Amino acid sequence: MPSDSSSLQSSAVINEAVQTLRDGGLVAFPTETVYGLGADAKNPDAIKRIFTAKGRPSNHPLIVHLAASDKFDQAQVDWVPVLAPWVRDLSEDALKLINAFWPGPLTLVFKKDKSVLNELTGGQDTVAIRAPAHPIAQELLRKFKGGVVAPSANRFGKVSPTSAADVRSEFEGMLELMILDGGDCEVGIESTIIDLSSGDHPVLLRPGLITPGEILAKTGIQVYLPGEIDSVKQGGDMPRVSGSLRAHYAPTTPLRMYASGRVLDALSEFPDIKSRVAVAVWDSESSLGVDGHPSAHFEEVLVPSDSAAFASRLYRSLRDLDQQGWDLILFPEPPAGEEWDGVRDRLQRACFGSGPSSSSHANS
Ligand code: TXA
Ligand code: MG
Repeated sequence: MPSDSSSLQSSAVINEAVQTLRDGGLVAFPTETVYGLGADAKNPDAIKRIFTAKGRPSNHPLIVHLAASDKFDQAQVDWVPVLAPWVRDLSEDALKLINAFWPGPLTLVFKKDKSVLNELTGGQDTVAIRAPAHPIAQELLRKFKGGVVAPSANRFGKVSPTSAADVRSEFEGMLELMILDGGDCEVGIESTIIDLSSGDHPVLLRPGLITPGEILAKTGIQVYLPGEIDSVKQGGDMPRVSGSLRAHYAPTTPLRMYASGRVLDALSEFPDIKSRVAVAVWDSESSLGVDGHPSAHFEEVLVPSDSAAFASRLYRSLRDLDQQGWDLILFPEPPAGEEWDGVRDRLQRACFGSGPSSSSHANS
């Protein structure tokens, strides 16, 4: 993220945002992943306002965002006292993960302290916590001196916002919202979520920029995929993760993925397609040269063939293409490899939920 991004918002504006949070209001703010819709994590009415604004079912838990008080020495931060009011116990693994990746795009799920409000955990006995790296998010949290719950600042089931303008357009005409502008989000997809609440095996709940491979390399900790943990554990009590619904992050225009070189196959599902199809093409490849389809007009849009760069622009591209009035949007299937898991996950859900009736899918 740009190192001078806090200069995009004066301290006076941040102070106003802090006051809004203290008064029980909502503030949208930038993080390095996506923009969040923030409220005081200790105020049940403010939390309810988030669910209403997003149109999100109230049993979907929220992430608590925290910052350490010392701005200048992040490497030396002692996170234990910062977490103590929220978390029942901190394992050695938890501390290793925190020290390796915070502040940054990693959310950890713990057994909650009893004081944590049920309104934010959806009634579960666990709490998700993250320490964002974006300087504006940090300044807001530091001045607020408390936890801020913040889901992505989009309507439920829609594409997460990666700029202040995206947030504005999500809530236009519905909600007067204070929005802190920190420019474009650098990571571009939501944080990786690891569940530490079972005490023995860390489990990946949502893939993101930080991968199990990177975690193993930096900390020696093995993160399991939900399917790898024995079925007894999965029984009835997996945590609810709205990002795990099949339809999520969805544009209104139909979106599909195509296998390498198989653009026309992707069209077979749409026999009546009349004209305009936007086809995303890896920037490492020369033109697809798609022609020979009687009724469709293709236009190519280049997308980065580096996974982090792709993630950083994914939601921006989906939003922009959604605005441009295409009949269909086609994206290339991401290659194999865990560094692509985060974007593959988001693209699959976006495809499933896309199209004019996406909201009924997303809420099902
Ligand atoms: O990058 C991010 O994490 C962004 C920025 C704003 O920080 N936030 C975000 O929040 O993506 P949201 O609410 O859109 O997604 C949070 C996910 C949800 O899928 C939720 O179900 C899951 O975290 N979650 C929250 N608390 C949980 C818990 N106690 N156990 C399991 N999953 C939890
Ligand atoms: Mg979200």
